[in-house]
Amino acid sequence: MNGLRLLGTGRALPEKALDNDAMTQYVDTSDEWITTRTGIRRRYFCAENETTTTLAIAAAQRALENAGLDPQAIDCLLVATSSGEYVMPSTACMVHKALSLREDIPAMDVGAACAGFLYAVETARALLIARGGRHALVIGAEQMSSLLDMSDRNTCVLFGDGAGAAVFSLEADAEYESVCGVRGDMAIRVGGPRREQPMAMDGQSVFRFAVSAIPQCVQQLLGKAGLALEDVDWVVCHQANQRIIDASVRRLGVPAEKFYKNLDRYANTSAASIPIALDELREQGGLATGMRIIMVGFGGGLTWSGIMMRV
Ligand code: ACO
Repeated sequence: MNGLRLLGTGRALPEKALDNDAMTQYVDTSDEWITTRTGIRRRYFCAENETTTTLAIAAAQRALENAGLDPQAIDCLLVATSSGEYVMPSTACMVHKALSLREDIPAMDVGAACAGFLYAVETARALLIARGGRHALVIGAEQMSSLLDMSDRNTCVLFGDGAGAAVFSLEADAEYESVCGVRGDMAIRVGGPRREQPMAMDGQSVFRFAVSAIPQCVQQLLGKAGLALEDVDWVVCHQANQRIIDASVRRLGVPAEKFYKNLDRYANTSAASIPIALDELREQGGLATGMRIIMVGFGGGLTWSGIMMRV
């Protein structure tokens, strides 16, 4: 099977971190409420000189460095984001220029909310197979703070800004499985006809969706590969809420330690959360060559996606 192998990762966060107490300057909330309902303790928000673009570029530079790959070897660039600085040009076009990538490659943004990074990875694989080429740079980058209503306590405490990037190579014998899906639904929305509506969310219906999407994706991937969860070293889910991950662990009946968690430090960074987690895992020495990982994204749309691969 034509699968992808992970060659390198990188991440970038804004300089300014806000703990839960800092959120009380915006809304009537408390560290106790946020911690017990979500597991979140801290998030990063962009300052004026930081944007989805600057974070995406910094994360991509680190991923290329970590992969030890010349930027000229990149055959395909995808940026998963719902918070691009401009509608046009795409964030991918600006990253392409900053990194001086080759002109004869596709570069575009992918919009699938928090499932976006894995949608982008799968799109990159399809593009490499269809067009030829070996290396893909895939980035998840978000300035979620630009989409928030800072007077809405139902949403503003949940999200953070950041970017993660990964370099992949297409290999004929690489083990790889993927699933994805969509159920048109407005449970989380932002924008509107004049882009006038900030983020709004029906938290409880998103919660119910998420706790069924994660186990479903994991089981579908294992079923396709004929494997059991014991054969997998890490499950890296989209980092939205500690209770969502805990409920998924219970449904699957697996050890909680298999699920990587860092949402306490970053909150929900949407499309950036999975590549940020991958980069942390790699940095901590948790991703040895040959390990098998499952990644699962879910989010607005509603969208979901899962990929199983060896690193
Ligand atoms: N601080 C204090 N109180 C709050 C806050 C806050 N930040 N936010 C809500 N409350 C209050 C509510 O007003 C409500 O008060 P009331 O009972 O007087 O009306 C009370 O807390 C309970 O509210 P619920 O909505 O029932 O709280 P719940 O336990 O469901 O937790 C939460 C809310 C955390 C949003 C949860 O539903 C959740 O995590 N849902 C999933 C959301 C998610 O993960 N979204 C992102 C995924 S997709 C994507 O990433 C785009």
